[in-house]
Amino acid sequence: MAYEFIIVTPEYDKHIALIQLNRPKELNALNLQLMLEVKQALMELDANESVRAIILTGNDRAFAAGADIKQMAGKNAIDMLKIDQFSTWDQIRKTKKPMIAAVSGFALGGGCELVMHCDMVVASETAQFGQPEIKIGVMPGAGGTQRLPRAVGKVKAMEMVLTGEFINAEEALRIGMINKIAPVELYLSEALKMAQKIASMSPIAVQMAKESVLKAFEMPLQEALSFERKNFYMLFATEDQKEGMAAFVEKRVADFKGR
Ligand code: CAA
Repeated sequence: MAYEFIIVTPEYDKHIALIQLNRPKELNALNLQLMLEVKQALMELDANESVRAIILTGNDRAFAAGADIKQMAGKNAIDMLKIDQFSTWDQIRKTKKPMIAAVSGFALGGGCELVMHCDMVVASETAQFGQPEIKIGVMPGAGGTQRLPRAVGKVKAMEMVLTGEFINAEEALRIGMINKIAPVELYLSEALKMAQKIASMSPIAVQMAKESVLKAFEMPLQEALSFERKNFYMLFATEDQKEGMAAFVEKRVADFKGR
């Protein structure tokens, strides 16, 4: 599929794909078409056997400054219900492969929520995160009121959602929203290093481990533990389990095939 607002590089590195949001003049504001494209690209990369990790990025000035306010401004509640823009995001949440956000500049509103749909986050020193929807008379709608408190706790989430104030990369690291900070010239290569480590593991184990960690946010503990246990046992059906354990015993590097 030809994309207008994103650039997709399925073979950015060995087993690693890159999706770059590409509406730079609008600070990558997430219009409906752009989000449909992100969803489509993720579905295609998820189905692509050679891809083991996906990096999602913007540009140095903005990861994304939120949903497209100009596109939403004139809509009424029924229009919004009919468009149901966030159903696209449900599919993004279902991506099985690990997603790493490489964030520089603004990650606001839907941009911050898109970061929180990713599994890990590398930020540049200039990154700013925020949920400023309150300043334009609305509130987060793509998971901000749910994923943010789960990531950083109630009072910090309340502060961000109710005041709309931004936080910088240092603060985001301190409160557990991101994994790592790098200089602007290096945040993408740091994200790539993280992706390379993951891509060297068994892709089946990675997918099952990701799925299990996400259950921690969606299921009661007992059910989630039972889910985890079944995934663990299931991995013993893979060649990668045999290879990984044999490589350990033979003191060599494992060569995982995704089988
Ligand atoms: N939607 C549409 N256009 C946007 C945009 C957005 N979210 N954010 C920035 N832009 C556009 C601006 O309108 C401007 O376009 P023009 O040159 O045509 O006027 C261009 O991008 C550059 O922006 P600024 O001139 O404003 O740049 P700045 O450096 O002065 O300010 C900013 C940067 C602080 C990020 C400011 O642009 C801003 O506050 N943006 C809006 C942030 C926001 O409120 N996001 C939440 C949106 S609602 C949402 O996301 C709902 C949800 O839960 C999914």
